[in-house]
Amino acid sequence: MNFKIRPAIKEDCKEISRMIMELAVYENMPDQVKIAHGELERDGFCENPFFECLVAEVPEEHKSKEGFTVVGYALYFYTYSTWKGPSIFLEDLYVMPEFRGNGIGKGLLCKVAEVGKKKQCVRLQLSVLDWNTPSRDFYAAKGAQDLTVTEGWHAIRFDGQSLDNLANEAAKI
Ligand SMILES: CC(C)(COP(=O)(O)OP(=O)(O)OC[C@H]1O[C@@H](n2cnc3c(N)ncnc32)[C@H](O)[C@@H]1OP(=O)(O)O)[C@@H](O)C(=O)NCCC(=O)NCCS
Repeated sequence: MNFKIRPAIKEDCKEISRMIMELAVYENMPDQVKIAHGELERDGFCENPFFECLVAEVPEEHKSKEGFTVVGYALYFYTYSTWKGPSIFLEDLYVMPEFRGNGIGKGLLCKVAEVGKKKQCVRLQLSVLDWNTPSRDFYAAKGAQDLTVTEGWHAIRFDGQSLDNLANEAAKI
């Protein structure tokens, strides 16, 4: 299938927001999504953006059943490994179901790797849910190692009350 991968522009945020929700539904956590296109516009298209994004677009004649031409995205940002140096973190990779199996997911992943390499990144890292075997297999087939298996890492998060508590403690130090 004919498709093009390009950097997202501010005007894509509604489409990206739609696909973020589709991915969250696939991951069985739609109620966790608390942001919409306005926040994406604010956070990704400001002076110091929190993220960058690539979108996959198909021509009008291949648009989705609902009429969408933006059919996939990869959203990423930069991190730093104190062991290895500049790194890129792939937050989301998504292709709409009816467009899967056409090389779009691979195309997005390769382009993110290319962007990272141009910025001297030595790692492309991401998290994937335990049960998401198709995607785990997809990454494995592309040569990724599963750090939970090889190194035993756990993903840790502070948010909501636990984050507030920490920040509030800082004032007392
Ligand atoms: C994972 C996902 C992005 C892959 O996108 P896609 O467009 O269907 O994948 P592609 O057509 O580009 O496949 C590329 C290659 O991966 C292979 N591949 C795809 N799915 C695979 C799987 N489940 N297991 C092994 N290989 C797989 C293809 O055979 C193809 O191989 P090739 O390079 O040798 O030709 C897509 O399935 C998706 O959006 N899944 C749901 C959301 C998700 O889980 N995202 C990841 C969250 S971390």
